[in-house]
Amino acid sequence: MRPNILAIESSCDETSASIISNGKVLNNIIASQAVHRKYGGVVPELASRAHQENIVAVVDEAINSSGVSRADLNAIGFTRGPGLIGSLLVGVSFAKGLSIALGIPLIDVNHMQAHVLAHFIEDPKPEFPFLCLTVSGGHTQIVLVNDYLEMEVIGQTQDDAVGEAFDKAAKIMDLPYPGGPLIDQYAQKGNPKKYRFPDSNMPGLDFSFSGVKTAFLYFLRDEIKKNPQFISENINDICASLQHHLVYMLMSRLTRASEQTGIKQIAIAGGVSANSELRKQVAAIGKREGWDVFVPAFQYCTDNAAMIAMAAHYKYLAGQFSALDVTPLARMPI
Ligand code: KG4
Ligand code: ZN
Repeated sequence: MRPNILAIESSCDETSASIISNGKVLNNIIASQAVHRKYGGVVPELASRAHQENIVAVVDEAINSSGVSRADLNAIGFTRGPGLIGSLLVGVSFAKGLSIALGIPLIDVNHMQAHVLAHFIEDPKPEFPFLCLTVSGGHTQIVLVNDYLEMEVIGQTQDDAVGEAFDKAAKIMDLPYPGGPLIDQYAQKGNPKKYRFPDSNMPGLDFSFSGVKTAFLYFLRDEIKKNPQFISENINDICASLQHHLVYMLMSRLTRASEQTGIKQIAIAGGVSANSELRKQVAAIGKREGWDVFVPAFQYCTDNAAMIAMAAHYKYLAGQFSALDVTPLARMPI
């Protein structure tokens, strides 16, 4: 069987669709929602509405530009969770309707598993077992990946996700949402050693970012008291120092995880894996530690349906389909 699968992603603020044919991703159509920028974060109600507006056009474009006809589709994959429930409902309901109309089965996909499986879209691909640091706006996890559909979270954040730490720090500095990419841009021109922030001292492989966020807030408040122009005059150094610190916190646990498991196949995934300092650090530490490092192409780091398609492909091969009464899950363990 050489399955053709349509995949739909709608867990947060991108509406995306992709066609995968026999394990090869043919396209990855993404409509990003600009509506959240002025609110400093994703507004769930607006996200659901924007998914409703975009989903028909996005799915049509994915099918029409793939060269695969509707009649040749064998299954529909969709993100079941984790994510915003109203956003997920749009994708899940759409997938159900289309599955009934076309008479083909549904495959539910875990969004976090899919971020990991983004590594199988293009070469080079990691070998099992490997470790994947999955870092996004909603999650920060170290995943032990034993097989395509066999994964275990061995470390995770106890509070905020690292993407959230980037975005909240940006918001404190009055930068628009999402702040992560902007901090990355300013940081390119700054001194990463100028300001220091505290580590969380979480034991083992877990993370905590809420303390850094608070420390950052107080640091800026104190500096602004002395100089009201502090942020605008030092934005590059502030961003470089904060970014350097957040990446250090990620890398220290990832290095520990590699030491503890003896695994040297190391992957990064999720929106924050687009960060240039993280990419630099994982390459540099990887060289020192003798790791094989895997970083997906930029378009497969942030939320996208190609990774959902990849996960749906492996679930199809394993015969893992979902019933028509499947419901979305805001929380969904890997
Ligand atoms: O995986 P993703 O697209 O959506 C979630 O599932 O959350 O990740 C979005 C997150 C946001 O927090 C955004 O600020 C962050 O990824 N991000 C970055 C960069 N690009 C995206 N953070 C730091 N540096 C970047 N270059
Ligand atoms: Zn994501």
